[in-house]
Parts: sequence; structure tokens; C-alpha cells
Amino acid sequence: MRLSTCRLHLEIKMKCVQPKNQCLRESQETLSALLEAIAEDFARLSAVAPSPVDIEEHVKRLHSVKRRVAVTNNTLQTVQRAMQTPDISHLTAADYDRVYEPAEDSFLLLDALEADLERLRARRPRLALEVGSGSGVVITALAAALPECLCLATDLSEAACRATWRTAHRNGVTVLPVRCDLTAALRPRLAGQLDVVLFNPPYVVTSTEEVCASGGLAASWAGGERGREVTDRLLPQLPELLAPDGLFYLVAIRENDVDDLGAVMAGLGFDMCRVMSRRAGPEHLSVLRFERRAESGGTGPPEGGDVPQRP
Ligand SMILES: C[S@@+](CC[C@H](N)C(=O)[O-])C[C@H]1O[C@@H](n2cnc3c(N)ncnc32)[C@H](O)[C@@H]1O
Repeated sequence: MRLSTCRLHLEIKMKCVQPKNQCLRESQETLSALLEAIAEDFARLSAVAPSPVDIEEHVKRLHSVKRRVAVTNNTLQTVQRAMQTPDISHLTAADYDRVYEPAEDSFLLLDALEADLERLRARRPRLALEVGSGSGVVITALAAALPECLCLATDLSEAACRATWRTAHRNGVTVLPVRCDLTAALRPRLAGQLDVVLFNPPYVVTSTEEVCASGGLAASWAGGERGREVTDRLLPQLPELLAPDGLFYLVAIRENDVDDLGAVMAGLGFDMCRVMSRRAGPEHLSVLRFERRAESGGTGPPEGGDVPQRP
């Protein structure tokens, strides 16, 4: 069984567990409140009347049980907060003739976003964009995890835009797909507004001709020289597009020269961090996160480039 299929099975099982988890959390909270009330009653009793038994000892035990209940509840909360892999069972083999089928790279990006969820939530993102959304599996997961964030998507392929729309709808979230090259339809209107940008680009090393000539599904993977030709067109757009504390997540393979990606982005005023790496067959995949360098004051690239400040 493929890794992606195993993961989907696991997610479906998780979906069944989630409501039980929620009930369990509620009963743990009730239990915690009861323990607190009993401990208070004991404390009050021992203050008003001398007791034949050592009430202090019982109060200590109650507090220790309450601490354990709190730890269990935290664990349950973490499980509940984990990012769900969206249901993509509506997409058929015919769809995958024209749209990139979620694969190890898509799932690594999902895992990296899940690992970064607290960081993402702490920034209270309001606007996110996935460039090249394909089936929509990644941006739909982000939309579900960040309900207050408006999620946009772009893709060169009309079939991919439709698939993204359907995946979002299927999973009860809103994602707005736009068919365009990279971010062409959104600039300059969204300058400085994007809190999160995601890109799982066509990263496979091919000839330049293959990138230019690639229509259809080949546009999903044909990356040209060093597998960088599409990615390298997006990078210079990020200083303009990202909000001052915006985050950019990029999938890359070893052949894309991760150090050089870091150097290019450093020149644009961004620091790079490798969030997660995984080997998938012959590919050494990484998810890289970029954010503006602290000394650039969160206001943009070091030289020139006015980045509008949000109110
Ligand atoms: C590797 S697939 C990733 C799909 C999806 N994000 C995922 O992770 O499963 C790359 C996607 O980028 C799209 N794409 C390629 N070149 C593009 C461009 N210049 N502008 C917009 N989308 C592009 C492809 O059509 C494809 O859907």
C-alpha cells in the first residue's frame, strides 16, 4: 500500500476518533472541576471542625489526581488540534490525468505545516495563498486549520483550479482558486497583505524546453535547469507580496540546491529554516520556511521595495 493511501486510511480513522476525543475532553474538564470542588470542601471542613482523619493528605491526593487529569486533557487537545488531511475521495483517476495527484511531497508539506501550526496560529493569519494548488489538498487543510484566514489558490491549470474548488467544498471550507501564472492575477493588489504563501513547485530537473513546452500534467513536475526555473520566477515576488511578518513555505529537493535557495532569499531580506526533510524513493525532499530577517525590521527587502504596512 502506498504511503499516501495509508495516511488517508489513518486520517479517516482519526475522523471517527475526533468526536469521541471531544466527549472525553469534556468529561475530563467536568472531572477536573469536581475534584477542585471536593478539595475546596475538604479544606473548608478541616478549617471549621477538627477531623479524626488527616484531611490535608486527601486534599494533596486530590490535587495530584487533578494534575494528571490536566495532563491527559492537554494530550487530548494536542490530538484534536492536529491538522487533518482533507478528504479527496471525490477526485477520480480521470481527474488525475489532468491534475497532480497528492504524493509524498504534498504530504511532507502538510506535515511541515502541522508541525508549524502553533507558529502559524500565533501570527493570526488573515490571508493565505497557495501557488500551484493542484488537487487543493494542502490549501484545504490550511483553511480547515485556520478558520479565520481567507485562503486563495492559483494554478496554471483550469482542471487544477476546479479540483481545488471541489476539494475545499467537499471538506466544508472556502478556498478561492484563480487560474493564472504564479501570482499574476493578485499583484499588485495584494502587495504586503499575504500572511502565508505556500509553493510545492514543479521541481524535477528537466531541460528548459520541457518547462516551456509543458502543458497539462507535465507542468506539475517539469522544473527545468536545477529544477528551479519556476521557483526562481516566484522568489523575487515575495518581498512585495508577503506581509511584514509573513511566512513562505517552499518544497525543494536536493538537486534544487537548497543552500543557494537560502542565499537568493537572504539577498531579498529573508532567513531560511528547514522545517522538515524526508527521503521518498530517489528524492530528498525538504520543506523550507522563509521569514523576513529581524534586522530588516519586518518591513521588506534590504534595498528599495516599498512594502505596504497593514493597519
Ligand atoms: C507539484 S504540483 C503540487 C500540487 C499541490 N500543491 C500538491 O502539493 O499536491 C505543482 C502544481 O503547480 C502548478 N503550476 C506549475 N507551474 C505553475 C505556474 N507557473 N503558475 C501556477 N501554477 C503552476 C501545476 O499545475 C501543479 O498543479
